[in-house]
Amino acid sequence: MQRILVIETRQIIVKMLNSFLNKKYSIYSFDAKQEVIQTIEEKMPALILLDLELSNLDGFEILKKIKSHSNSKISNIPVILISILSTEEIQIKGLQMGACDLIFEPVNPLILDIKIAMQFKSFDHQQKLQMSIEEKNEELKNNFEILMTAISILINEYNYITGRHVRRVQKYVKCILNNMETTLSDQVIGYISTAALLHDVGKIIVPENTLLKNEVLTEIEFDQMKTHTVHGANVLRKIKKLFKEQPMEYLKYAIEIAETHHEKFSGEGGYPYNLKGEEIPLSGRVVAIADVYDALRQERPYKTAFSHKEAYDIIVYGDDRIRPEHFDPKVLGAFKKCANEFEKIFDEDMLSKGCL
Ligand SMILES: [Fe+2]
Ligand SMILES: [Fe+2]
Repeated sequence: MQRILVIETRQIIVKMLNSFLNKKYSIYSFDAKQEVIQTIEEKMPALILLDLELSNLDGFEILKKIKSHSNSKISNIPVILISILSTEEIQIKGLQMGACDLIFEPVNPLILDIKIAMQFKSFDHQQKLQMSIEEKNEELKNNFEILMTAISILINEYNYITGRHVRRVQKYVKCILNNMETTLSDQVIGYISTAALLHDVGKIIVPENTLLKNEVLTEIEFDQMKTHTVHGANVLRKIKKLFKEQPMEYLKYAIEIAETHHEKFSGEGGYPYNLKGEEIPLSGRVVAIADVYDALRQERPYKTAFSHKEAYDIIVYGDDRIRPEHFDPKVLGAFKKCANEFEKIFDEDMLSKGCL
């Protein structure tokens, strides 16, 4: 049975409303001596009947508090006003302030019953609509993650190390964004971290003898390797164009990450465009530090694998190749805050691979 909260100070009206409605609805009356919003939060009614002419409070003030509540579950509760003054001014003011309907005294039980039923019908309809939008969004998000994971497995098949690397980068990125002061919603943080799975997708186009070479790359080979940024972004742009009718907002992040994750914040020698500072999108700046940390932890033809402490010190204090100025200071600050989690992500992955 749906719960209706009646905010009314006159007991005679409460009794009358109760006798009209209690067979169909669960009625809770309230004389407004208690804290109004607290009572609504506790009872969470499906509808509120609010008397505008309460003896101790201004009904419009209560309506304003309900409609401006920070919790949308409360501000969306339909409110039907009851008033003894059947003026157009009251009707206009009430509706403008967010009431869904008004009923004038003396209350006709049949009219009140119809108005309540109409509200529940329209509220149910809105809720179903909202649920179907949320379900669709969830479905899209899941499809996106499936697609990203499928592509990362594809990379994994092609190059075992890259596959594990991109999944660790995804985790580091989420960790940084959760530790940074940004205006990004949780949804966008999810998009960026999942899109980070594709940051090296362009490596598929780099010749195998360069990609898998176990020695230091020549200048020509390094130039070939650098093109994975532009190749990756172009492939993703083609996919986005193909699905231009679909809401593929998240691909925007995958493209900017693929293209800019090797740029340097200080503008010194990043590639492919040698961008500087905020010319580099935030997603690219975050992936940059995650990518460097992971590369430092791994063995490469020109270096041994560094410990977490060594990798941390190189990023924070610099060495002959890497400078802290290469990174966005805000991203670097977040990295310092969650460096322990980076260590955990890397070590747990190595453990599952049987390396530790
Ligand atoms: Fe890369
Ligand atoms: Fe990478």
